[in-house]
Amino acid sequence: MGVLDEAFIQAPEHRPKNHLKNADDYILSKEIPTIDLSSLQDPNCDKTALTTEIAEACMRWGFFQVTNHGLSLDLKRRVEKTMADFFSLPLEEKRRVKRDEVNPMGYHDGEHTKNVRDWKEIFDFFLQDSTTVPATTVPEDTELRKLTNPWPQNPSDFREVCQEYAREVEKLAFKLLELISISLGLPGDRFTGYFEDQTSFLRFNRYPPCPNPELALGVGRHTDAGVITVLAQDNVGGLQVSRRSDGQWISVKPNPDAFIINIGNCMQVWTNDKYWSAEHRVVVNTSKERFSMPFFLFPSHEVNIEPLEEFISEDNPPRYKKYNWGKFFAARNRSDYKKLQSESIQIDHFKAAA
Ligand code: OGA
Ligand code: NI
Repeated sequence: MGVLDEAFIQAPEHRPKNHLKNADDYILSKEIPTIDLSSLQDPNCDKTALTTEIAEACMRWGFFQVTNHGLSLDLKRRVEKTMADFFSLPLEEKRRVKRDEVNPMGYHDGEHTKNVRDWKEIFDFFLQDSTTVPATTVPEDTELRKLTNPWPQNPSDFREVCQEYAREVEKLAFKLLELISISLGLPGDRFTGYFEDQTSFLRFNRYPPCPNPELALGVGRHTDAGVITVLAQDNVGGLQVSRRSDGQWISVKPNPDAFIINIGNCMQVWTNDKYWSAEHRVVVNTSKERFSMPFFLFPSHEVNIEPLEEFISEDNPPRYKKYNWGKFFAARNRSDYKKLQSESIQIDHFKAAA
Protein backbone atom coordinates (compact mmCIF):
# COMPACT_ATOMS: atom_id res chain seq x y z
CA MET A 1 0.00 0.00 0.00
CA GLY A 2 1.14 3.63 0.01
CA VAL A 3 0.06 5.15 -3.30
CA LEU A 4 -3.57 4.88 -4.21
CA ASP A 5 -3.90 2.30 -6.93
CA GLU A 6 -6.95 2.52 -9.17
CA ALA A 7 -8.27 -0.73 -7.66
CA PHE A 8 -9.08 1.12 -4.42
CA ILE A 9 -11.08 3.96 -5.96
CA GLN A 10 -14.78 3.93 -5.12
CA ALA A 11 -17.43 4.97 -7.63
CA PRO A 12 -18.35 8.64 -6.96
CA GLU A 13 -21.68 7.77 -5.25
CA HIS A 14 -19.90 5.51 -2.74
CA ARG A 15 -17.08 7.87 -1.77
CA PRO A 16 -17.15 9.03 1.84
CA LYS A 17 -18.17 12.64 2.18
CA ASN A 18 -17.05 13.06 5.78
CA HIS A 19 -13.69 11.40 5.74
CA LEU A 20 -12.50 13.63 8.58
CA LYS A 21 -13.92 13.14 12.01
CA ASN A 22 -15.77 16.20 13.11
CA ALA A 23 -17.79 16.93 16.20
CA ASP A 24 -21.14 17.38 14.43
CA ASP A 25 -20.76 14.04 12.84
CA TYR A 26 -20.47 12.39 16.23
CA ILE A 27 -23.52 14.16 17.62
CA LEU A 28 -25.52 12.08 15.20
CA SER A 29 -23.79 8.97 16.40
CA LYS A 30 -25.50 9.23 19.75
CA GLU A 31 -28.48 7.79 17.99
CA ILE A 32 -26.91 4.35 17.90
CA PRO A 33 -28.02 2.86 21.21
CA THR A 34 -25.59 1.93 23.98
CA ILE A 35 -26.89 -0.85 26.18
CA ASP A 36 -25.50 -1.49 29.66
CA LEU A 37 -25.24 -5.22 30.42
CA SER A 38 -24.30 -4.85 34.10
CA SER A 39 -27.71 -6.15 35.23
CA LEU A 40 -26.73 -9.59 33.89
CA GLN A 41 -24.25 -9.97 36.73
CA ASP A 42 -27.22 -10.66 38.99
CA PRO A 43 -28.55 -14.00 37.77
CA ASN A 44 -31.97 -13.36 39.34
CA CYS A 45 -32.47 -10.04 37.63
CA ASP A 46 -35.49 -9.43 35.46
CA LYS A 47 -34.24 -9.17 31.87
CA THR A 48 -37.36 -7.49 30.51
CA ALA A 49 -36.02 -3.92 30.40
CA LEU A 50 -32.80 -5.10 28.77
CA THR A 51 -34.47 -7.26 26.12
CA THR A 52 -36.90 -4.44 25.31
CA GLU A 53 -33.94 -2.15 24.62
CA ILE A 54 -32.32 -4.84 22.49
CA ALA A 55 -35.50 -5.41 20.46
CA GLU A 56 -35.80 -1.70 19.78
CA ALA A 57 -32.15 -1.43 18.69
CA CYS A 58 -32.34 -4.50 16.42
CA MET A 59 -35.47 -3.25 14.68
CA ARG A 60 -34.47 0.40 14.24
CA TRP A 61 -30.75 0.05 13.64
CA GLY A 62 -29.52 -3.52 13.57
CA PHE A 63 -26.60 -2.05 15.55
CA PHE A 64 -25.88 -1.25 19.20
CA GLN A 65 -22.93 -0.96 21.57
CA VAL A 66 -22.73 -2.89 24.85
CA THR A 67 -20.91 -1.76 27.97
CA ASN A 68 -20.22 -3.72 31.19
CA HIS A 69 -20.22 -6.84 29.04
CA GLY A 70 -17.98 -8.88 31.35
CA LEU A 71 -15.15 -9.50 28.84
CA SER A 72 -11.80 -8.69 30.44
CA LEU A 73 -10.42 -5.43 29.05
CA ASP A 74 -6.94 -6.61 30.01
CA LEU A 75 -7.38 -9.57 27.67
CA LYS A 76 -8.61 -7.21 24.95
CA ARG A 77 -5.45 -5.12 25.37
CA ARG A 78 -3.24 -8.22 25.20
CA VAL A 79 -4.81 -9.38 21.96
CA GLU A 80 -4.53 -5.87 20.49
CA LYS A 81 -0.84 -5.83 21.34
CA THR A 82 -0.06 -9.16 19.72
CA MET A 83 -2.18 -8.26 16.67
CA ALA A 84 -0.27 -4.98 16.22
CA ASP A 85 3.03 -6.88 16.58
CA PHE A 86 1.94 -9.34 13.93
CA PHE A 87 0.93 -6.62 11.46
CA SER A 88 4.25 -4.84 11.98
CA LEU A 89 6.19 -7.87 10.66
CA PRO A 90 7.71 -7.67 7.17
CA LEU A 91 5.24 -8.48 4.41
CA GLU A 92 7.14 -11.64 3.37
CA GLU A 93 6.73 -13.01 6.86
CA LYS A 94 3.01 -12.22 7.02
CA ARG A 95 2.54 -13.84 3.63
CA ARG A 96 3.81 -17.13 5.03
CA VAL A 97 0.37 -17.49 6.62
CA LYS A 98 -1.46 -16.17 3.61
CA ARG A 99 -5.00 -17.04 2.68
CA ASP A 100 -5.39 -18.96 -0.58
CA GLU A 101 -8.11 -20.33 -2.84
CA VAL A 102 -8.68 -23.36 -0.59
CA ASN A 103 -8.28 -21.94 2.89
CA PRO A 104 -9.93 -18.56 3.50
CA MET A 105 -8.20 -18.10 6.89
CA GLY A 106 -4.87 -16.36 7.51
CA TYR A 107 -3.31 -13.12 6.30
CA HIS A 108 -4.68 -11.18 3.33
CA ASP A 109 -4.09 -7.71 1.95
CA GLY A 110 -6.11 -7.89 -1.21
CA GLU A 111 -9.71 -8.11 -0.07
CA HIS A 112 -12.43 -6.69 -2.29
CA THR A 113 -15.89 -5.61 -1.18
CA LYS A 114 -18.26 -5.37 -4.15
CA ASN A 115 -15.26 -5.61 -6.47
CA VAL A 116 -13.41 -2.55 -5.16
CA ARG A 117 -10.27 -3.18 -3.15
CA ASP A 118 -10.40 -2.37 0.59
CA TRP A 119 -7.75 -0.16 2.22
CA LYS A 120 -6.78 -2.66 4.91
CA GLU A 121 -4.89 -5.79 5.78
CA ILE A 122 -6.46 -8.65 7.71
CA PHE A 123 -5.79 -11.84 9.62
CA ASP A 124 -8.64 -14.35 9.99
CA PHE A 125 -8.92 -17.48 12.12
CA PHE A 126 -11.71 -19.95 12.78
CA LEU A 127 -13.03 -20.35 16.29
CA GLN A 128 -13.02 -24.15 15.84
CA ASP A 129 -9.68 -25.48 14.67
CA SER A 130 -10.66 -27.43 12.45
CA THR A 131 -13.88 -26.19 10.83
CA THR A 132 -15.90 -28.21 8.33
CA VAL A 133 -17.10 -26.43 5.17
CA PRO A 134 -18.28 -27.52 1.68
CA ALA A 135 -15.37 -28.27 -0.65
CA THR A 136 -16.93 -26.37 -3.57
CA THR A 137 -19.68 -23.87 -4.36
CA VAL A 138 -21.48 -26.36 -6.65
CA PRO A 139 -24.95 -26.96 -5.10
CA GLU A 140 -25.08 -30.70 -5.92
CA ASP A 141 -21.57 -31.41 -4.65
CA THR A 142 -21.80 -32.75 -1.07
CA GLU A 143 -18.05 -33.11 -0.55
CA LEU A 144 -16.80 -31.48 2.64
CA ARG A 145 -13.43 -30.14 3.66
CA LYS A 146 -11.86 -29.65 7.07
CA LEU A 147 -9.92 -26.42 7.36
CA THR A 148 -7.35 -25.55 10.00
CA ASN A 149 -5.92 -22.19 10.95
CA PRO A 150 -2.54 -21.10 9.60
CA TRP A 151 -0.78 -19.70 12.70
CA PRO A 152 2.31 -17.50 12.44
CA GLN A 153 5.45 -18.37 14.43
CA ASN A 154 5.73 -14.75 15.49
CA PRO A 155 4.73 -13.16 17.80
CA SER A 156 5.39 -16.21 19.98
CA ASP A 157 2.28 -15.69 22.13
CA PHE A 158 0.04 -14.91 19.15
CA ARG A 159 -1.82 -18.21 18.89
CA GLU A 160 -2.40 -18.62 22.61
CA VAL A 161 -3.67 -15.07 23.15
CA CYS A 162 -5.90 -15.28 20.07
CA GLN A 163 -7.44 -18.54 21.23
CA GLU A 164 -8.04 -17.20 24.72
CA TYR A 165 -9.73 -14.11 23.31
CA ALA A 166 -11.78 -16.22 20.90
CA ARG A 167 -13.22 -18.29 23.76
CA GLU A 168 -14.23 -15.19 25.67
CA VAL A 169 -15.75 -13.36 22.73
CA GLU A 170 -17.69 -16.52 21.84
CA LYS A 171 -19.19 -16.55 25.35
CA LEU A 172 -20.26 -12.94 24.94
CA ALA A 173 -21.75 -13.70 21.51
CA PHE A 174 -23.86 -16.57 22.87
CA LYS A 175 -24.98 -14.46 25.81
CA LEU A 176 -26.17 -11.82 23.33
CA LEU A 177 -27.79 -14.42 21.12
CA GLU A 178 -29.82 -15.62 24.11
CA LEU A 179 -30.91 -12.06 24.87
CA ILE A 180 -31.80 -11.47 21.21
CA SER A 181 -33.81 -14.67 21.21
CA ILE A 182 -35.74 -13.59 24.32
CA SER A 183 -36.17 -10.12 22.80
CA LEU A 184 -38.01 -11.80 19.91
CA GLY A 185 -40.37 -13.56 22.32
CA LEU A 186 -38.63 -16.90 21.71
CA PRO A 187 -37.03 -19.29 24.21
CA GLY A 188 -33.45 -18.24 25.07
CA ASP A 189 -32.05 -21.37 23.39
CA ARG A 190 -34.11 -21.14 20.19
CA PHE A 191 -31.01 -20.77 17.97
CA THR A 192 -28.55 -22.98 19.85
CA GLY A 193 -29.03 -26.02 17.58
CA TYR A 194 -27.66 -24.17 14.57
CA PHE A 195 -24.12 -23.92 15.97
CA GLU A 196 -23.05 -27.49 16.73
CA ASP A 197 -20.48 -27.33 13.96
CA GLN A 198 -20.23 -23.56 13.79
CA THR A 199 -18.15 -21.86 11.09
CA SER A 200 -17.58 -18.69 13.18
CA PHE A 201 -14.33 -16.82 12.77
CA LEU A 202 -12.42 -13.87 14.12
CA ARG A 203 -10.91 -11.16 12.00
CA PHE A 204 -8.19 -8.66 12.81
CA ASN A 205 -8.36 -5.55 10.65
CA ARG A 206 -5.59 -3.01 10.27
CA TYR A 207 -6.48 0.13 8.32
CA PRO A 208 -3.28 2.02 7.48
CA PRO A 209 -3.30 5.80 7.02
CA CYS A 210 -4.47 6.51 3.49
CA PRO A 211 -3.21 9.30 1.19
CA ASN A 212 -6.67 9.74 -0.41
CA PRO A 213 -9.34 8.93 2.16
CA GLU A 214 -11.92 10.80 0.09
CA LEU A 215 -11.61 8.22 -2.70
CA ALA A 216 -11.15 4.90 -0.91
CA LEU A 217 -12.78 2.98 1.94
CA GLY A 218 -11.28 0.71 4.60
CA VAL A 219 -14.19 -1.63 3.94
CA GLY A 220 -16.74 -0.80 1.29
CA ARG A 221 -20.44 -0.81 2.15
CA HIS A 222 -21.66 -4.30 2.99
CA THR A 223 -23.82 -6.27 5.37
CA ASP A 224 -22.38 -9.04 7.53
CA ALA A 225 -23.44 -12.47 6.30
CA GLY A 226 -23.71 -14.33 9.59
CA VAL A 227 -25.99 -14.32 12.62
CA ILE A 228 -24.47 -11.53 14.71
CA THR A 229 -21.10 -9.75 14.77
CA VAL A 230 -19.31 -8.74 17.98
CA LEU A 231 -16.80 -6.03 17.09
CA ALA A 232 -14.04 -4.56 19.24
CA GLN A 233 -12.30 -1.41 18.07
CA ASP A 234 -9.74 1.13 19.25
CA ASN A 235 -10.27 4.86 19.77
CA VAL A 236 -9.60 6.07 16.21
CA GLY A 237 -13.09 5.77 14.69
CA GLY A 238 -14.17 5.21 11.10
CA LEU A 239 -17.12 2.84 11.25
CA GLN A 240 -20.30 4.21 9.70
CA VAL A 241 -23.74 2.63 9.72
CA SER A 242 -26.54 3.19 7.25
CA ARG A 243 -29.67 4.25 9.13
CA ARG A 244 -32.61 1.95 8.45
CA SER A 245 -35.14 4.78 8.19
CA ASP A 246 -33.42 6.77 5.44
CA GLY A 247 -30.09 5.17 4.52
CA GLN A 248 -28.02 8.09 5.84
CA TRP A 249 -24.46 7.24 6.92
CA ILE A 250 -24.05 7.69 10.68
CA SER A 251 -20.61 7.56 12.34
CA VAL A 252 -20.24 5.31 15.36
CA LYS A 253 -18.44 7.07 18.19
CA PRO A 254 -15.54 4.81 19.15
CA ASN A 255 -15.53 3.46 22.68
CA PRO A 256 -12.63 1.02 23.19
CA ASP A 257 -14.28 -0.36 26.35
CA ALA A 258 -17.49 -1.28 24.54
CA PHE A 259 -18.33 -3.90 21.94
CA ILE A 260 -20.40 -3.12 18.88
CA ILE A 261 -23.05 -5.71 18.11
CA ASN A 262 -24.73 -5.94 14.76
CA ILE A 263 -27.37 -8.15 13.23
CA GLY A 264 -26.21 -10.27 10.29
CA ASN A 265 -28.09 -11.56 7.26
CA CYS A 266 -29.06 -14.91 8.85
CA MET A 267 -30.91 -13.18 11.70
CA GLN A 268 -32.64 -10.85 9.27
CA VAL A 269 -33.83 -13.84 7.21
CA TRP A 270 -34.81 -15.93 10.28
CA THR A 271 -36.93 -13.04 11.58
CA ASN A 272 -38.37 -12.36 8.12
CA ASP A 273 -37.02 -8.79 8.15
CA LYS A 274 -38.15 -7.93 11.69
CA TYR A 275 -34.52 -7.46 12.73
CA TRP A 276 -32.32 -5.48 10.41
CA SER A 277 -28.91 -6.32 9.01
CA ALA A 278 -27.61 -2.80 8.35
CA GLU A 279 -25.15 -1.81 5.67
CA HIS A 280 -21.97 -0.42 7.15
CA ARG A 281 -18.55 0.69 5.91
CA VAL A 282 -15.26 1.98 7.24
CA VAL A 283 -13.79 5.35 6.31
CA VAL A 284 -10.03 5.90 6.61
CA ASN A 285 -7.92 8.96 7.33
CA THR A 286 -4.52 10.37 6.41
CA SER A 287 -2.84 10.26 9.81
CA LYS A 288 -3.84 7.36 12.05
CA GLU A 289 -3.83 3.64 11.58
CA ARG A 290 -6.87 1.89 13.04
CA PHE A 291 -7.36 -1.62 14.39
CA SER A 292 -10.61 -3.53 14.82
CA MET A 293 -11.56 -7.12 15.65
CA PRO A 294 -14.91 -8.46 14.51
CA PHE A 295 -16.11 -11.89 15.65
CA PHE A 296 -18.54 -13.30 13.11
CA LEU A 297 -20.97 -15.76 14.69
CA PHE A 298 -21.73 -18.15 11.84
CA PRO A 299 -23.92 -21.31 11.84
CA SER A 300 -22.87 -24.85 10.93
CA HIS A 301 -22.39 -25.47 7.22
CA GLU A 302 -25.39 -27.81 6.96
CA VAL A 303 -27.90 -25.27 8.28
CA ASN A 304 -30.43 -24.02 5.75
CA ILE A 305 -31.37 -20.40 6.32
CA GLU A 306 -35.03 -19.44 5.86
CA PRO A 307 -37.63 -17.39 7.72
CA LEU A 308 -38.62 -19.20 10.93
CA GLU A 309 -42.21 -20.35 11.23
CA GLU A 310 -42.63 -18.07 14.27
CA PHE A 311 -42.28 -15.09 11.91
CA ILE A 312 -44.52 -16.16 9.06
CA SER A 313 -48.26 -16.04 8.76
CA GLU A 314 -50.87 -15.57 6.10
CA ASP A 315 -50.41 -11.81 6.36
CA ASN A 316 -46.66 -12.05 6.54
CA PRO A 317 -45.45 -14.64 4.02
CA PRO A 318 -41.77 -15.65 3.88
CA ARG A 319 -39.71 -12.92 2.25
CA TYR A 320 -36.76 -15.18 1.43
CA LYS A 321 -36.25 -18.54 -0.17
CA LYS A 322 -34.22 -21.15 1.65
CA TYR A 323 -30.45 -21.21 1.11
CA ASN A 324 -27.71 -23.40 2.46
CA TRP A 325 -25.29 -21.64 4.78
CA GLY A 326 -22.20 -23.66 3.80
CA LYS A 327 -22.64 -23.00 0.08
CA PHE A 328 -23.27 -19.30 0.71
CA PHE A 329 -20.12 -19.14 2.84
CA ALA A 330 -18.06 -20.87 0.13
CA ALA A 331 -19.37 -18.52 -2.58
CA ARG A 332 -18.65 -15.44 -0.49
CA ASN A 333 -15.12 -16.53 0.24
CA ARG A 334 -14.35 -16.85 -3.44
CA SER A 335 -15.71 -13.43 -4.29
CA ASP A 336 -13.97 -11.59 -1.43
CA TYR A 337 -10.68 -13.21 -2.32
CA LYS A 338 -10.30 -11.59 -5.68
CA LYS A 339 -12.10 -9.43 -8.13
CA LEU A 340 -14.76 -11.35 -10.02
CA GLN A 341 -16.76 -10.48 -13.12
CA SER A 342 -20.11 -10.56 -11.37
CA GLU A 343 -21.51 -9.19 -8.14
CA SER A 344 -20.81 -11.29 -5.05
CA ILE A 345 -23.64 -13.32 -3.55
CA GLN A 346 -26.10 -11.35 -1.37
CA ILE A 347 -29.27 -12.32 0.55
CA ASP A 348 -31.24 -10.22 -1.93
CA HIS A 349 -30.62 -13.04 -4.38
CA PHE A 350 -32.88 -15.20 -2.19
CA LYS A 351 -35.69 -12.68 -1.90
CA ALA A 352 -39.03 -14.34 -2.58
CA ALA A 353 -40.94 -12.96 -5.58
CA ALA A 354 -43.37 -10.30 -4.37
C1 OGA B 1 -16.13 -6.04 8.87
C2 OGA B 1 -16.46 -4.69 9.37
C3 OGA B 1 -15.90 -2.81 10.76
C4 OGA B 1 -14.74 -2.18 11.42
O1 OGA B 1 -14.94 -6.42 8.98
O2 OGA B 1 -17.07 -6.73 8.39
O3 OGA B 1 -17.55 -4.24 9.11
O4 OGA B 1 -14.99 -1.24 12.17
N1 OGA B 1 -15.56 -4.03 10.12
O5 OGA B 1 -13.62 -2.61 11.21
NI1 NI C 1 -18.93 -5.77 8.55
